[in-house]
Amino acid sequence: MNDSLRDTLQELNQTHLITACEKLDAADRQLLEEQIAQIPWDEMRNLIPQALAGTATESLPEIQPLENAIRLPESQDEITSWAQAREAGLALLDAGRVGAILVAGGQGTRLGFPHPKGMFPIGPVTSRTLFQIFFEQLLALSNRHGVRIPYFIMTSDATHDETEQFLSEHAWFGYPPEDVYLFRQGTMPAIDDNTGQILLASPTQVAISPDGHGGLLNALQRANLFQSMKHHGVETLFYHQVDNPCVTMCDPVMLGFHSLRNSEITTKVVAKRNAAERVGILAQMNQRQAIVEYSDLPLELSEKTDSSGMLVYWAGNIAIHVMNRDLLERLATGTTRLPIHIAHKKVPYLNSESRVIEPEAPNAFKFERFVFDAIPLAQNPLVIETSREDEFNPVKNAEGEDSPASSKQALSRRGQRWLQQAGYDVAENTVVEISPLEALEPADLQDMDLNLDGDADEILLIPDSQ
Ligand code: UD1
Repeated sequence: MNDSLRDTLQELNQTHLITACEKLDAADRQLLEEQIAQIPWDEMRNLIPQALAGTATESLPEIQPLENAIRLPESQDEITSWAQAREAGLALLDAGRVGAILVAGGQGTRLGFPHPKGMFPIGPVTSRTLFQIFFEQLLALSNRHGVRIPYFIMTSDATHDETEQFLSEHAWFGYPPEDVYLFRQGTMPAIDDNTGQILLASPTQVAISPDGHGGLLNALQRANLFQSMKHHGVETLFYHQVDNPCVTMCDPVMLGFHSLRNSEITTKVVAKRNAAERVGILAQMNQRQAIVEYSDLPLELSEKTDSSGMLVYWAGNIAIHVMNRDLLERLATGTTRLPIHIAHKKVPYLNSESRVIEPEAPNAFKFERFVFDAIPLAQNPLVIETSREDEFNPVKNAEGEDSPASSKQALSRRGQRWLQQAGYDVAENTVVEISPLEALEPADLQDMDLNLDGDADEILLIPDSQ
């Protein structure tokens, strides 16, 4: 261990790490020392005292209802302005200025699926995976606009290798591999909630966990991907999460509003299903637009209604953003960075007798960044409402709401609606699956002259090659 690291450990009351290294043989010691050297000590210098001082439980700044959201269009004027936004968005796509970002560091553990969540089968007829749906949308869009749309996919230590192997086995679902950038997010160590000492997971391992999807910014910078974006001429990025197969990738309306209103970050929301729904909400905080995570929103605010009985904090974050490359780069390299959230959690650890303890109560602080904390730091942030039925049916829970069953059903229902809007008859119990390579929207189905049996059990529209 070099002297400067040793000094840092002494200064920050982390000499237990030196002792742990000294107990190991040369090869193992090197392993552990490398991990210790990778800890962002400059950040830890501030974070450890903050966590111990109870910042984790500090109350939120006062929040006010969201101002200025673009609600779903109703009046003729609103319909016209949505149509204008769509034209502007299509022009951005035509110009090849758009890239896409997927945050895919999470596994399907809550679903009992011990793999990267993007590998989860979700097609209502064919069981095509979440990844396939995303890639096919981008492929259809890039073909339609005659442009390349680089796809930046952030993985974690837990998902990287399996994701890479899966995508390469499936030949990137036909997408040009040179336009796909897989990169790993960083990690942060966990600290003991009493002593502030960094926990060990085993004699040779520091207890680390992913640094949150806000780790995106550092990870892009580390992998030199802002340069790749510039090389592609990409100025605007469409951002989405791995769990929602109904996402409209690079939605032209959203891109268009974002550009016409000179926004640096635009967020899609749906009206919350009820006060208890576990989605973050958009609100004003310190006079800036911001997202308050569901776990931080006090019950009396989440349940607050207006005179007509509507939720005051109605705007549920569906984690779909359009963001300027400049904003991301500024927050990755400039003096203002995304804040760190400190969470009090149960973290298994190696005790002083070298036994691994599974704690029964929270024993540690973990550190994460959230990408949506870019909103209050951005110029002209914008919020657009969308339809839950069409665009937000994530796979989060094993059963019930937001489960594989509800998500498949939503995909099938959306397929039925698209076919009906295109003039076909479809019975309510027909299961429908439409590959994005066949249609990205109802209008694509109109000219296809399909010979459908509207009473069939299933309607499957996929390319012949599949
Ligand atoms: C998230 C949002 C919530 C929103 C909801 C909508 C946060 C903190 N909360 O909640 O406001 O209403 O989605 O569906 O984001 N991920 C990484 N690396 C990490 C952590 C997460 O890549 O270190 C990715 C996951 O793979 C996933 C996404 O971020 O794609 C969201 O993570 P998850 O923990 O599932 O968030 P939710 O609790 O569902």
